[in-house]
Amino acid sequence: MSYAEGKRRKGKKETIRHKTTATVFASLLIAGAALWMLGILSGDWEAGTLFSIIAYVSLSYLVAYLAAIALSRKYVSQIEKIINEAKAIASSQNVDRRIAVSSHPDELSSLETALNEMLGKLEESFERERRFVSDASHELRTPVAVMRGYLDILRGWGRDDSKLMDESLEAMSDEADRMGRLIEGLLRLARMDRDALGINAGPVGSGALVGKMIEDSQNIRKGRTVKTSKIENFKVVADKDLVLECLRALFENAVNYTGENGTITFSAETKKGYGCISVEDDGMGISENDLGRIFERFSRTESSRKINPSGSGLGLSLVKSIVEAQGGKIAVESRQGEGSVFTLQLPLVK
Ligand SMILES: Nc1ncnc2c1ncn2[C@@H]1O[C@H](COP(=O)(O)OP(=O)(O)OP(=O)(O)O)[C@@H](O)[C@H]1O
Ligand SMILES: [Mg+2]
Repeated sequence: MSYAEGKRRKGKKETIRHKTTATVFASLLIAGAALWMLGILSGDWEAGTLFSIIAYVSLSYLVAYLAAIALSRKYVSQIEKIINEAKAIASSQNVDRRIAVSSHPDELSSLETALNEMLGKLEESFERERRFVSDASHELRTPVAVMRGYLDILRGWGRDDSKLMDESLEAMSDEADRMGRLIEGLLRLARMDRDALGINAGPVGSGALVGKMIEDSQNIRKGRTVKTSKIENFKVVADKDLVLECLRALFENAVNYTGENGTITFSAETKKGYGCISVEDDGMGISENDLGRIFERFSRTESSRKINPSGSGLGLSLVKSIVEAQGGKIAVESRQGEGSVFTLQLPLVK
């Protein structure tokens, strides 16, 4: 329906309402007058009294009608103001603008506040999206630039130097791997944002989870000592594969950010209605300053960039999203230079 059409229909509706009211009012008056005349002609004074009642009723109706029109005009103009401001925000595509909230606390000022809260949430989400796209393109640009650099070397003098050729191919292969992991992580995060993770939750035992991790860690421990402590037996409601994916990401971090002689310890215990599985290391630890940011996408500490240059900074943000999607939480305790404990907290089977 076009705006003009809407306006025309709206006008018609108002005319019909006015006409109906006028007709009712006129009918009451005519009926009253007729009864009064009848009363006079027949000499029956009661008909005159009846007219007075009808006249009073009609007058009250008229007063109520005028008051209602005045009140509705006030509210309609306030609603029109909200509509115009919302349209102005939509056409300017400027979500940091807000609707002016009227000083009288009523339903309409609550509507204005609710719309402003919605605009605030939209602004936050646009900002997050903008930061994510700019971080993702920055992270993807780096390996491409490195590969281009090596290709230029090989196109120039590098092809005659077999050592340089090997080095370049090795570096390009590393960068291609890094880019592959980055794209994989980005796709996984995009799927999380669409709630398309396909969680298949059921009862899973703590022993089975830790046992599988110990088994898998043989290939990725890179010489670190792996042990268990305090393994309590309990069952959590979770998707086993997704929990193992999270534990693997925590274990890989423990390996990457711990010295060659480091020790990684798995433990499992129940706390405050949650089944908690922890991965502890005695590695480089995380400063208090960085601790609040490590779950953000692409967040990496300066020292970890040197130790593990191929990391993408997406691992922990994925773990957090996966655990929270299953009604769980992730907690971390760390001291710089001493080590870290990452704990998955999952809902226990009731
Ligand atoms: N066990 C740990 N010890 C010390 N620092 C850690 C540990 N785990 C994570 N971090 C810090 O948190 C940052 C984010 O970790 P995250 O797993 O998200 O990314 P990443 O390991 O850098 O890359 P990837 O996405 O490839 O896993 C790391 O770069 C590191 O600075
Ligand atoms: Mg990691």
